[in-house]
Amino acid sequence: MFSLPEGHRACLLPHLYKVAVVKKAQPQVHDTVLEGNGKLILQIILLCVIFQFLLKILTAEKPMMNFTFYNPTRIHFGEGQIAKISKEIPKDAKVLMIYGGGSIKSNGIYEQVKEALSHHEWSEFSGIEPNPKYNTAMQAIEIIKEKNIDYLLAVGGGSVIDAVKFIAAAALFKGDDPWDMLAKQTKVEQAIDFGVVLTLPATGSESNSGSVMTRDGNKLFFGSPLVYPTFAILDPSVTLSLSDRQISNGVIDAFVHTVEQYLTYPVNAKIQDRFAEGILQTLVEDGPLALDDDTKDNIEVRANLMWSATMALNGLIGLGVPQDWATHMIGHELTALHGIDHARTLSIVYPAVLKMCKTAKREKLIQYGKRVWNLTNQDEQELINQAIAKTEEYFRTMQVPTRLSDVDLTNSDIDPVLSKLKQHRMVMLGEHQDIDLDKSREILTMAL
Ligand code: NZQ
Ligand code: ZN
Repeated sequence: MFSLPEGHRACLLPHLYKVAVVKKAQPQVHDTVLEGNGKLILQIILLCVIFQFLLKILTAEKPMMNFTFYNPTRIHFGEGQIAKISKEIPKDAKVLMIYGGGSIKSNGIYEQVKEALSHHEWSEFSGIEPNPKYNTAMQAIEIIKEKNIDYLLAVGGGSVIDAVKFIAAAALFKGDDPWDMLAKQTKVEQAIDFGVVLTLPATGSESNSGSVMTRDGNKLFFGSPLVYPTFAILDPSVTLSLSDRQISNGVIDAFVHTVEQYLTYPVNAKIQDRFAEGILQTLVEDGPLALDDDTKDNIEVRANLMWSATMALNGLIGLGVPQDWATHMIGHELTALHGIDHARTLSIVYPAVLKMCKTAKREKLIQYGKRVWNLTNQDEQELINQAIAKTEEYFRTMQVPTRLSDVDLTNSDIDPVLSKLKQHRMVMLGEHQDIDLDKSREILTMAL
């Protein structure tokens, strides 16, 4: 179409180009040639400007997305706050207190709740298991109907809270099977009001609108603004009875919730980024302290971990930013198939996700390396590798597995995970929706 005058070919940036033209074109050339050259130059300048403009659009940082923020859960944080239940629950409510396998009976929480409910009419339902099951939750619905219950109180970790969210919506479900809320994402139209006494900081379920339930080996999610708890009691002293394993699980779950909303690509969301970095730094600082014999009973450590876990998934840091969640979706299948603790599936999958998505997450990995791990390496590729290595090292410090082989899984266990992902239509994961089944296979292979 056109050719650049000799000596100008290498120059594509308009301002450099202009300088070169002035130097070369002036003295020797005939007027008509100059005229022709002038047109050509103008055309080239125009093309260069257009090229630069397009380049800018293509490489430009995408802006923060619009968002609406709503989180109606009233939080009572601190020691002794369980007593607030008595004022939070309407006086005339018929309450069903729902809990898990009985840890609340050996650590004094049950007695405190009982005391706080002493002026209410209440019954109880126990036996919600970790990774709560549909069949167990459905048993609670029979009691609700039989006793005309109109208020639920979840006392436990993420499993109890998620089960109560499901029960609250399932009890008023109009269709044939409340499982449709998860399997078919049928909209939740009504739910019974409920409050929460959190005993295990991890999932953020105490002030978010999501729930994860399991039925016949399928671990699925549903969400609705109608299942935000009306209130949540966060007393860090109740976490002192947690085993090391549950402390680790909680810290890792909160860490991965944070990075799945932060470590994607930049959209200049400064507040969300800095909140996320603050949560990550707190988990890095205080997580190991909660496992150390000298500091594990320190209530300030427990308080900071508890608040970190809530802040990691109460909606705030995810506002207007791209979100990943590939690790969670792959992790849910590992739990459903092999019963591995939720957080431990994350610590196995996440390092492999980072290694595979190094290029797509490049800018945020650099930011994460510098701001969370204080890395100073001048070589950006090296810095990224260090940031990933630091993450994995931290997971090991927190005593969680980082490889499938750590939980006795091998190459032959990958295909069943992929089949489940396919069955659940989890075939376009990640912030770019580009993690298909082949990439999930690569991730799981890297995690072996
Ligand atoms: O059953 P109890 O007796 O309560 O014992 C539990 C359980 O055995 C025990 N525990 C809880 N508080 C304790 C305690 N033991 C001693 N002292 C205490 N103060 O800990 C064990 C595990 O409890 P669980 O509730 O299962 O753990 P977690 O809070 O980690 O919840 C995990 C579940 O939450 C889901 C997970 O998939 C999993 O099913 N998630 C929910 C999310 C949400 N709703 O937003 C997001 C998460 O990503 C996650 O998927
Ligand atoms: Zn999680």
